[in-house]
Amino acid sequence: MRELALNVLDIAENSLRAGAKLVQITLSADFAADTMSIAIEDDGCGMSEEMLASVCDPFTTTRTTRKVGMGVPLFKYSAESAGGTFSIRSKIGEGTCVTATYKISHVDRMPLGDFGGVALQLVTMNPGTDFRIRVTDGPREGVLDTREVKEILGEDIPLGAPEVRAFLKEYIQENLVSIYGGRL
Ligand SMILES: Nc1ncnc2c1ncn2[C@@H]1O[C@H](COP(=O)(O)OP(=O)(O)O)[C@@H](O)[C@H]1O
Ligand SMILES: [Mg+2]
Repeated sequence: MRELALNVLDIAENSLRAGAKLVQITLSADFAADTMSIAIEDDGCGMSEEMLASVCDPFTTTRTTRKVGMGVPLFKYSAESAGGTFSIRSKIGEGTCVTATYKISHVDRMPLGDFGGVALQLVTMNPGTDFRIRVTDGPREGVLDTREVKEILGEDIPLGAPEVRAFLKEYIQENLVSIYGGRL
């Protein structure tokens, strides 16, 4: 089964390809309201209005005539088929923000999946990009900001170094993923 975490990876990879220096991923849940949202915001190259319009619809043309894949349409579908909404904003030279919302209890809502693993992969394998990954449940929140981690580590130790990676893995599991305790 598809996982929402893999959608997040796809969308964040678009941000990386767009040359983003900072990618902000926010996962918020409101269990009382039975809603959750996922937002991926970047400061990459952005898209023209024309591109923006066609990106959401994989069926306007075929893959052979238009070099556009399914990452955005699948993320959109994941939300709209689960009682949620989807939006994408983008400006050339400024960046892009993609937001999906879901009804948590909807039968067709995909499980979150290995969000921690995706977060770990993104922050350790992309040294040229900073990430701010935030997970909230009402007032409870967990934040991983690679700018802060880099400041503590100094310039010589990469986030992908084995000891750092092990630390980040534990940090993510304890602080980000544990916020939900498997409820998503
Ligand atoms: N964050 C982004 N910044 C700039 N362009 C983007 C962004 N996200 C998507 N795009 C553009 O939309 C296209 C479609 O994205 P997607 O649906 O994920 O398919 P694919 O990544 O396989 O091309 C990308 O190829 C890119 O041109
Ligand atoms: Mg993509």
